[in-house]
Amino acid sequence: MIGRLNHVAIAVPDLAAAAAKYRDLLGADVHHPHDLPEHGVTVVFVHLENTKIELLTPLGADSPIAKFLVANPAGGIHHVCYEVPDIASAARALGEAGARILGDGKPRTGAHGLPVLFLHPKDFDGTLIELEEVRPDLQPA
Ligand code: CO
Repeated sequence: MIGRLNHVAIAVPDLAAAAAKYRDLLGADVHHPHDLPEHGVTVVFVHLENTKIELLTPLGADSPIAKFLVANPAGGIHHVCYEVPDIASAARALGEAGARILGDGKPRTGAHGLPVLFLHPKDFDGTLIELEEVRPDLQPA
């Protein structure tokens, strides 16, 4: 079902400082900040050769990562994102197997404009998993 690792997301208390660290200290390809109001986060993507790092910080009052940063004030790994070719069939198969999908169970539009969903960390060894639909036939060569 799952394919490539699309990104690892790290929640950070100071997005500008984290982005500067990846750009200036680690010499990575750091993109511009991007507000995602419907997800309650601002993100900066760091493009690596084989995957991406998603630096996340809360946006708005009821951001889903605000609590995470209270528990982890220095920041920390928040989720990993795996690619799936068909998110609707992945959601169906996981639901039938008893895995819990966060929210209303329906895919939403994620940071790349593609459908995503999140799986309950209690069902996956304490790790929040994001699935993103990346259809191989729609990828640039
Ligand atoms: Co993500």
